[in-house]
Amino acid sequence: MGKILLAGGAGYIGGHTAVELLEAGYDVVIVDNYSNSSPEAVRRIEEITGKSVTTYELDIKDTDKLENVFKDNDISAVIHFAGLKAVGESVAKPVMYYRNNIDTTLSLLECMSKYGVHNIIFSSSATVYGEENPVPYTEEMKRGTCTNPYGWTKVMMEQILEDASKADAELSVVLLRYFNPIGAHPSGRMGEDPQGIPNNLMPYVSQVAVGRREKLTIFGKDYDTPDGTCRRDYIHVVDLAKGHVKAVDYVFGHKGVEVFNLGTGTPYSVTEIVDTFEKVNGVPVPHVYGERRPGDLPESYANADKALRVLGWKTEKTLADMCRDSWNWQKNNPNGYNK
Ligand code: NAD
Ligand code: UD1
Repeated sequence: MGKILLAGGAGYIGGHTAVELLEAGYDVVIVDNYSNSSPEAVRRIEEITGKSVTTYELDIKDTDKLENVFKDNDISAVIHFAGLKAVGESVAKPVMYYRNNIDTTLSLLECMSKYGVHNIIFSSSATVYGEENPVPYTEEMKRGTCTNPYGWTKVMMEQILEDASKADAELSVVLLRYFNPIGAHPSGRMGEDPQGIPNNLMPYVSQVAVGRREKLTIFGKDYDTPDGTCRRDYIHVVDLAKGHVKAVDYVFGHKGVEVFNLGTGTPYSVTEIVDTFEKVNGVPVPHVYGERRPGDLPESYANADKALRVLGWKTEKTLADMCRDSWNWQKNNPNGYNK
């Protein structure tokens, strides 16, 4: 078996996946331009696993440079995490988002074709279900209408991968639709390290708890949900990473496109997240209620049956685990990887 190429493997989800793959006995190669991560993350992967990792610092859009990675290594599968992911930024800079997210995908597909690599796993998102589909989302639902360019890049990349698979009977594509990944490695050595003001809930909550930000604003209290705040399917990043190990096992014995939701199937509200975080960690999270955030859906959660049935994967960690591990990471690394 050749190596697994992790495109964007120094990032939050890629890094945790690297650890789980290495611990499962796979050999990995990381390619990242550190546009939203740091070489320190790779050092921590090596520290946790006690293994050294071949790493390339390059822009995946640069197909010529990427080719060298395929030339120098026996790659048997690619996991494509490399993308820009900030929703608000994608509204302000749509061209940059389309350029980066789509070109990285095309560049990887070109190299795979040239070097006879037939297996690709793609980091998609629950965002592709759009506004029309009812919860819980199931994989056979049609992709919906997205509210922002980031979401559209995911829709387009799924389409590109489907078309590539139609044209090449050898190609095996697994589309993983992540729900809301939170939490961190239980060692406290790896976690999410957003640059600037966090867009997502859990990093914001942790930064308020550690005193880096004054208070959390909960966006909207008048949704048609049990407590009026939005509900999401939060998934521990280590459970998510383990889902990738199952997807790697699967991608080798398969042809065509297969889609899997990676979520718990259980939604929690924003208020439940704040309450659980405070209770489990014994720290206050000062918060106020504010206006709804444009583009937010009241509820988003998975039907996670297919991943269990086909991959034999389900989540194991609780919301308390997610809150504890997020806090453990934040309090031990108050400035992320910048120490
Ligand atoms: P991340 O930003 O931590 O990781 C992405 C990595 O890709 C970063 O290390 C970044 O430096 C790298 N990268 C980006 N463009 C690159 C390029 N042109 N060349 C080389 N490297 C490049 O994000 P993450 O949370 O780990 O997400 C990984 C993937 O999962 C992304 O595609 C994201 O859209 C998707 N996803 C994330 C979430 C989430 O909530 N975190 C939810 C659904 C889907
Ligand atoms: C968002 C994106 C989604 C992307 C995902 C991961 C939108 C519409 N969706 O999901 O496409 O895949 O991030 O990057 O942006 N909240 C607060 N206060 C805050 C931050 C968040 O109340 O300061 C609330 C939000 O209103 C939401 C919940 O917390 O109800 C979760 O928010 P977030 O972590 O940003 O994830 P999503 O919006 O679900």
